[in-house]
Amino acid sequence: MHGPRRKLKVFVTTVMTVFVFIVVEMSRNAGQGKNSRSKVLIPTKAFWSKRVLHNAYWNRHQQRLDHENNPILTGPNVTSSDWLLPEWLNHTVARNSCDPDVGVMTQVKDFNSLPGRFKDFLLYMQCRSYPMLVNQPDICRDPPFLLLAIKSLAPHFDRRQAIRESWGRVGLVENKTVVTIFLLGNATAVDHHPDLSEMLRYESSMHGDILQWDYRDSFFNLTMKEVLFLEWFNTHCSGANFVFKGDDDVFVHTINIVRFLKNLSHDKAQDLFVGDVITNAGPHRDKKVKYFIPESMFVGMYPPYAGGGGYLYAGPVARRLHAVTSQVALYPIDDVYTGMCLRKLGLAPEKHKSFRTFDIEEKFRTNPCAYKSLMLVHPRTPQEMIQIWAWLQDPALNCN
Ligand SMILES: *[C@@H]1O[C@H](CO)[C@@H](O)[C@H](O)[C@H]1NC(C)=O
Ligand SMILES: *[C@@H]1O[C@H](CO)[C@@H](O)[C@H](O)[C@H]1NC(C)=O
Ligand SMILES: *[C@@H]1O[C@H](CO)[C@@H](O)[C@H](O)[C@H]1NC(C)=O
Ligand SMILES: *[C@@H]1O[C@H](CO)[C@@H](O)[C@H](O)[C@H]1NC(C)=O
Ligand SMILES: *[C@@H]1O[C@H](CO)[C@@H](O)[C@H](O)[C@H]1NC(C)=O
Ligand SMILES: *[C@@H]1O[C@H](CO)[C@@H](O)[C@H](O)[C@H]1NC(C)=O
Repeated sequence: MHGPRRKLKVFVTTVMTVFVFIVVEMSRNAGQGKNSRSKVLIPTKAFWSKRVLHNAYWNRHQQRLDHENNPILTGPNVTSSDWLLPEWLNHTVARNSCDPDVGVMTQVKDFNSLPGRFKDFLLYMQCRSYPMLVNQPDICRDPPFLLLAIKSLAPHFDRRQAIRESWGRVGLVENKTVVTIFLLGNATAVDHHPDLSEMLRYESSMHGDILQWDYRDSFFNLTMKEVLFLEWFNTHCSGANFVFKGDDDVFVHTINIVRFLKNLSHDKAQDLFVGDVITNAGPHRDKKVKYFIPESMFVGMYPPYAGGGGYLYAGPVARRLHAVTSQVALYPIDDVYTGMCLRKLGLAPEKHKSFRTFDIEEKFRTNPCAYKSLMLVHPRTPQEMIQIWAWLQDPALNCN
């Protein structure tokens, strides 16, 4: 190389060197700030974040439960988990008592201004066992393929009867056994209910499908109904292959459900959880909404959850849910609570478009064919349940 090309190369190399030098110097200066001597950058904050206690009561409770159930901190060689309770947690109360927890009156800062249902919930949030008034301990002696567990209230005699006469009829469906039970608390005098105990006793002796526990059957106690049902399932019906849990104002296409279940792969049949899944939801902060939750009680988003109108899951999932309930603080909205338990298990509910908890278009509601491929539709009256069931049984029904 000689002549102008060599000069050009020297020139280009010089320019590049100067440029690189400038860039390096600039970045050195940019990174150094005042302390221009040090070459290694040390972050001023710790790499990890120190945990602090949540302000919201539920979250605080859950932090305590998470700590207590942390397998590293509760391993075989840890003799006392008390001394491990970090300072930021050590003034929260761990109780498991059914006496009213008066401590919440000071721990929840706006306790006194909360609506009564929150006060009731918070005072008994620690209580997880209520005595059974009516049991059917042998109803699953031959474990059914499908257990229909229907949340009902004592006065809803007509809904239960309509379910028995239509989609909840027990026996064989598509050659698979179906058993139906109704889950009840007490319709208490506190809520001005008349005494229905004699009528319930009669109903139970007639049909043998009532489960009743001695607690006040209110909206915020539905989570208790879930916990008690899982407990009952684990003791008395854990051999059932599948569970449908839902309300007494839904129509369920039991035949489609059984067909769907029969068709599942072996693996899917072990960890199934399907329904009308709601994602990216959080608590309502508008006091007028039924699902209102104050910020002093819960902050954060809800995990994906299946609307409580009705969902379907595998027996093994029910057993795992039962095992995890003691590690999840009670939450006043039952379907959200079940979503929280699923999340704790590392599971997520799966959305199925045949679960119509928000109903179908009005113009189709009186069309028998609209129900032919559904699994669940909400809401329906007892008369509508019987009508729809009759349509679906009609061999002359032609939907093509
Ligand atoms: C518990 O401690 C014993 C004795 O120090 C040790 O042999 C054992 O491996 C420990 N177990 C665990 C799970 O750390
Ligand atoms: C909480 O922690 C503080 C400081 O670490 C300690 O003095 C106190 O005894 C602890 N309280 C309980 C109930 O463990
Ligand atoms: C039910 O079982 C019987 C006898 O095993 C069989 O003939 C019939 O086809 C089955 N029905 C259905 C719907 O699977
Ligand atoms: C629940 O109902 C039973 C009768 O079924 C009654 O004896 C009991 O007192 C009720 N409990 C409450 C708290 O009202
Ligand atoms: C739930 O039931 C218990 C037992 O009857 C009752 O003390 C409590 O007030 C109820 N909670 C709500 C929110 O109604
Ligand atoms: C049965 O399973 C197959 C494969 O998963 C699916 O394509 C089919 O739609 C299912 N049938 C019913 C009735 O669910």
